[in-house]
Amino acid sequence: METNVPKRRDNKKSLRVKVISLGNAEVGKSCIIKRYCEKRFVPKYLATIGIDYGVTKVQVRDREIKVNIFDMAGHPFFYEVRNEFYKDSQGVLLVYDVGLRESFDALDSWLGEMKQEMGSQANMESIVFIVCANKVDLTKRRAVDEGEGRLWAESRGFHYFETSAQSGEGINEMFQAFFSSITDMCENGGKRPVSEVSVGFTKEQADTIRRIRNSKDSWDMLGVKPGATSITAFLASVSRVQWFPEPNWTLRRPGRCSAPLRR
Ligand code: GTP
Ligand code: MG
Repeated sequence: METNVPKRRDNKKSLRVKVISLGNAEVGKSCIIKRYCEKRFVPKYLATIGIDYGVTKVQVRDREIKVNIFDMAGHPFFYEVRNEFYKDSQGVLLVYDVGLRESFDALDSWLGEMKQEMGSQANMESIVFIVCANKVDLTKRRAVDEGEGRLWAESRGFHYFETSAQSGEGINEMFQAFFSSITDMCENGGKRPVSEVSVGFTKEQADTIRRIRNSKDSWDMLGVKPGATSITAFLASVSRVQWFPEPNWTLRRPGRCSAPLRR
C-alpha cells in the first residue's frame, strides 16, 4: 500500500508536507489556522468558500518543514470541491465545537468522506490525525466533555487537544504536537509511530462506552427496545467493555430485576 511520504527538498533536512482541516461548518477551522499563522482572531463568521490555501514554515528539531495548509469548507454544499484535496495529506486537523454535539457526532462521517475519496489506495496509518475540541472558552454552553472527546480520539490513535481560537488556548501546543508527529512519521518511513496517547481502548470499546454514557435511560443503555426481555445486547456490550470509566459504575437490568449487576 502507498504511503504519503512527502518529497524531500534539496536540503536533506527540509520537508514539505500537506495538511488539511476537516469538520462541520462554523466549528472554527479557519480561525484556528488564522490564530496560529497570523496570531489574531476574527469574531465575524466568514464561511470558507471551497478551499483556502496557505503556506507556513516551521522548525522541528533540526528540520525545516514547509507546511501547505488546505483549509476545507465544512458546508455540505462544497463536497465536490473538497473531494479533490484529500489525497497525499500527511496530517488532518479534525475540528468540532464543544458546544455543538452534532459537530462531534459528525467526526465519523468526516473520516468516512475522506476514506471514500481517497479510495482503495487510502492508507490512514500514514496520516497524523489531531482532534481539536474547539471553542473551550464558551464554558457555559459546553455539550461534549473532555473525557468523551479524548476517548473518541485516543481510541483511534489520534491526538486530542482542547483549543480556543478566540483566547489562543491550546493552539500552539496543538500545532507543535501536530508537526512534530508528522516529522516523526516521515522519519519512520511514512508510518504513523505507535501512539503514546493510547488509553487502552479499542475503537469498538470506546464506542460502546460512549453509547452507555450518552444513553437516556437504562433500555437505551443496554441497546434494547423498552420492554425487551432479552439481555443479549447487554451481555454483548459488557463482554466487549472490560471496565467502565466511573469507579463505582453499576448497571441495572431494566424492569423487575432488583439486584444490580456488578462487574
Ligand atoms: P467553514 O469555513 O464554514 O467550514 O467554518 P469554519 O469551521 O472555518 O469556522 P470559522 O473559523 O469561520 O469560525 C466560525 C465562527 O466561530 C466565527 O464566528 C468565529 O469567530 C467563531 N469561532 C471560531 N473559533 C472560536 C473559538 O475558539 N471561540 C469562540 N468563542 N468562537 C470561535
Ligand atoms: Mg473556514
